Amino acid sequence: MAMRRPKISVIGAGNIGGECARSLAMKELGDVVLLDIPDKEGVAKGKALDLACCAPIEKFDATIVGTSRYEDIAGSDVVVITAGLPRKPGMSRDDLVEVNSKIVKSVCENVKKFAPESIVIVVSNPLDAMVYVAWKVTGFPTSRVLGQAGALDVARYKTFLAWELGVSVEDIQGLLLGGHGDDMVPLPRRTSVNGIPLAELLSADKINACVERAKGGGGEVVKLMGTSAWYAPSSGTVEMVESIIRDKKRVIACAAYLESEYGLGAAKGKGMFVGVPCVLGAGGVEKILSFKLDETEQQFMNKSVGAVKDLVGLVTKMYPELA
Ligand code: NAI
Ligand code: 2OP
Repeated sequence: MAMRRPKISVIGAGNIGGECARSLAMKELGDVVLLDIPDKEGVAKGKALDLACCAPIEKFDATIVGTSRYEDIAGSDVVVITAGLPRKPGMSRDDLVEVNSKIVKSVCENVKKFAPESIVIVVSNPLDAMVYVAWKVTGFPTSRVLGQAGALDVARYKTFLAWELGVSVEDIQGLLLGGHGDDMVPLPRRTSVNGIPLAELLSADKINACVERAKGGGGEVVKLMGTSAWYAPSSGTVEMVESIIRDKKRVIACAAYLESEYGLGAAKGKGMFVGVPCVLGAGGVEKILSFKLDETEQQFMNKSVGAVKDLVGLVTKMYPELA
């Protein structure tokens, strides 16, 4: 089937992949290819067909194709990678490193071959290490490789704060930095309700409880459902795709490539992907916004960066060619 531009491919037609495809189409961000392994081609095709039949009701024009053939992603403007295993209760995101590195590596070899001009957004966990794999395997410039985690983690943080304050989620401004793990870096000092500093509205204990709930938000859902979340992860991903496709220049926390920023001090070409505020536009990560962290924030950041470094170390032990 002929596909129009913009064209967005979603690799992995599971829970997040399916929900991403639905939301991308509903927002008319482009035509969508939903790809899974040959064994799951029926799922990819079935979801695409089901979603296509939402169009007359929801009133969107977007072609949605299900496939297992990588030829179908040719010409994609954006490729979203959701392929991989999700967490089960008791598992951390890091427990997925071995199996998902292998999957993301094989997916990215195909992305490099069939969609060499695309901007790649990785969603698979453990997120920051999987973005590193995508960068190394595709060889794409760092502006075209990024990961979704901050959009979700910040959304969880804002949700819990809004509940506590009894205000609209739209009126909370806030940010989290660092890796998508238990060491993510909260920034309550820089959170406000339409400019009113959070600390003037909420006690330190209550702020801390919201921060901790945001950090454990993924695990809380896994415990309830037996698998990981997909609605909010998909919303976060689509928020990023929208900023890129519509060249909105939104400032969104994403896993982006750092060398010297935020005290990383890595040698040239030896940097890592960690969550930081980025300007997302037609060029992908067009700018990383840097600001000086205070001592506590920097300590949190160093710890989080250390955890990501350990994970990348596991990946390069398995695949020395990715070092
Ligand atoms: P799921 O199990 O519902 O879907 C994953 C899909 O990937 C399956 O359909 C599977 O067949 C497919 N897949 C496996 N190997 C593949 C390959 N080589 N090529 C193409 N497709 C392949 O899982 P779900 O819930 O959609 O989660 C996907 C990933 O996203 C997991 O790794 C999960 O941990 C991660 N995740 C990330 C979040 C984030 O914020 N970054 C939040 C929640 C989950
Ligand atoms: C989440 O945060 C497990 O990364 C997944 O929901």
